[in-house]
Amino acid sequence: MKNVNVVVIGFGNVGRAFVKLVSLKRKTISEKYGVNISIVAVADSRGVAIKKEGFDEYEMLKMSELPRSGIYMFSPYARQGASIKEIYEEVEPDIHIELTPANYVSGEPGYTNILFALRKGVHVVTANKAPLVLHYNEIMNEARARGLVVKFRATVMGGTPFLEMLGSMKSHEVEKVEGILNATTNYILSEMHENLIDFDQALKKAQAIGVAEADPSLDIEGFDAAAKLCIVSNVVGKPIDLKSVYRESLSKITLKDVLDAIRQGQVLKYVATLDLQNKSAFVKIVRIPKENILAQVNGTLNAVRVKTEATELFFVGKGGGRIETAHSVLDDVLFISLEKVVKK
Ligand SMILES: NC(=O)c1ccc[n+]([C@@H]2O[C@H](COP(=O)([O-])OP(=O)(O)OC[C@H]3O[C@@H](n4cnc5c(N)ncnc54)[C@H](OP(=O)(O)O)[C@@H]3O)[C@@H](O)[C@H]2O)c1
Repeated sequence: MKNVNVVVIGFGNVGRAFVKLVSLKRKTISEKYGVNISIVAVADSRGVAIKKEGFDEYEMLKMSELPRSGIYMFSPYARQGASIKEIYEEVEPDIHIELTPANYVSGEPGYTNILFALRKGVHVVTANKAPLVLHYNEIMNEARARGLVVKFRATVMGGTPFLEMLGSMKSHEVEKVEGILNATTNYILSEMHENLIDFDQALKKAQAIGVAEADPSLDIEGFDAAAKLCIVSNVVGKPIDLKSVYRESLSKITLKDVLDAIRQGQVLKYVATLDLQNKSAFVKIVRIPKENILAQVNGTLNAVRVKTEATELFFVGKGGGRIETAHSVLDDVLFISLEKVVKK
């Protein structure tokens, strides 16, 4: 049995879902793959819980029920504060899982945490896009130099192994990647078309059911989709800068725009495009004929079309969502555990 120690930094929606998922799946995973996943530290912005031999299933379930910012209450293993350096002084992880919020200005705290982990010789799995969007090359070079891997399949179409497939198409010249990469805005647009409500009503509904954040600006202003295009561009080896992605705000859309489109047999979609032939990237509201496959991708589903010199592929599946994202993170952890030599 291979024991794999992991630290989880960030214990919000995804962190909790991940810890709970490990508590439910650990036994099956060890039987199926001979890998024992040991969560040895879990941190939020206020504190950390540490158990060198790894939390058991019951402890993980109890932990995932703590209130927000409440990890410091997880007695007798927890305390307030604790920097990443202090955590690493107490445990020796094989894999660092970064689930902190995305900050597209500084990349922090994820950027510092990821570099810290790599410099300690620890593989990284991240769902936080910002460090990759801002510092992809630096992070990958740091990992490569040490024979480590950074896995991030949760960052684009979190519930669908799209990035893995794209990354594996190494013989292809990717010409264009375009699609619906943000679940929140697709839900809002779907609501506007199906129920003929205006943008504000659709946004409120999305917030009420937890599809949109209280501050939805990263989604509505196209930042999230633009960030995903940056990650895709790096995966296909033709990096673009976040600032170079043209973004149109979805908030300018009116019910009249939707009705006009419907009258002409079209629908409006918020489409993110990486056009590698014309060296441009944009997130725009686009009119699409209703029989087009993208037009039929509704609600929180994501879809992406990849065009290469040899083929055209279409992926449809779940975008984010805490449970789907937790599965993607666990898949990355298992990939590293099975494919890479972990220290023990
Ligand atoms: N939610 C999704 O479906 C989804 C899908 C794909 C990717 N992602 C990405 O995954 C990441 C996590 O998402 P989420 O929805 O779980 O976010 P979240 O609910 O906001 O949780 C973020 C967590 O990070 C903690 N945190 C903040 N600063 C920290 C620091 N300096 N040190 C340690 N912990 C810190 C927060 O602490 P407190 O609890 O104390 O505030 C919180 O526990 C984000 O980058 C997000 O963009 C999310």
